[in-house]
Amino acid sequence: MPSANTGVTDRPRVLVTRRIPEAGLRLVLAQTEADLWQDELPPPREELLRRVAGVDGLLSLLTDRVDDELLDAAGPQLKVVSNFAVGFDNIDVPACTRRGIPVGNTPGVLTETTADLAFALLMAVARRLPEAYDYVRADRWQTWGPLLLLGRDINGATLGIVGFGRIGREMAKRARGFGMRVLYYDVHPATSEEEAALGAESVAMDELLAESDFVSLHTNLSPETHHLLDAAAFARMKPGAVVVNTSRGPVIDHDALHDALKSGHLFGAGLDVTDPEPLRADHPLVTLPNCLVVPHIASASEATRDRMAEMAAANLLAGLRGERLPTPVDPSVYERDTPS
Ligand code: GLV
Repeated sequence: MPSANTGVTDRPRVLVTRRIPEAGLRLVLAQTEADLWQDELPPPREELLRRVAGVDGLLSLLTDRVDDELLDAAGPQLKVVSNFAVGFDNIDVPACTRRGIPVGNTPGVLTETTADLAFALLMAVARRLPEAYDYVRADRWQTWGPLLLLGRDINGATLGIVGFGRIGREMAKRARGFGMRVLYYDVHPATSEEEAALGAESVAMDELLAESDFVSLHTNLSPETHHLLDAAAFARMKPGAVVVNTSRGPVIDHDALHDALKSGHLFGAGLDVTDPEPLRADHPLVTLPNCLVVPHIASASEATRDRMAEMAAANLLAGLRGERLPTPVDPSVYERDTPS
């Protein structure tokens, strides 16, 4: 409730760095004193640092860097950071944990939707849909052609999944439905029962690269996965293979990818994520006919974005109440005695 004459309320103050779906936004607006950044583009860094000062909670997006500088700018009253994304490489989680600030993300609710987009990219690149679409729109379609726009078969091909978490496993289910052989690489392999249920086989990274007709990335971005696919990795891949990335752009060395696509060593690539984001239309990868780039939309279905918004709101509001977040990124934050 607003206090008399001051315009100050006793509701917690939060910064929401972009308009998120109403399903979550209305929960936040109903229970907090929210500063909502309304622009389509993220707040510039200086603006973010200015607006975060004194807030109790931050609802961030993957385009906001949350690091020591921002936490210092926010001040010691900050109770929670809720990221509207499953990925959290934009957040220095150890820095938050050191300060006793729980970080929330949105796992689980976007798994199938993200795998759908990864598989859509795989199929679109294999069957050259962007080129075919451009061909018709350019009025070049004259007749049925025996050699026209020949692509790669998906059925019977081998898919290599890098990162066998929730989304990687959903990708395996789709691939099995299309008659693919499924290999995967993960530092924490699945159990043999899980492998049997998903029809997937754990292999070393080198073997995955050498055996796969399609390689799909589903890892977190970390120092270990930065440029996991570099020139050496592309050289190990089968000639004519396809790469799909719905994880994070920097998992691929883009210069090396460009060379592998341009030389024809790779048949194509489908990228939902790039390094940097966005890529401009004249970027060398965007101008290649065998590289399909879409603007980081893997979780962008109406229902999924609603669920993400609800989850981000639930994490934010729980943190403000001093309760455990429904989905904390680093549960060890609750094992600390006192924040330092
Ligand atoms: C999107 O990339 C997400 O991490 O949710």
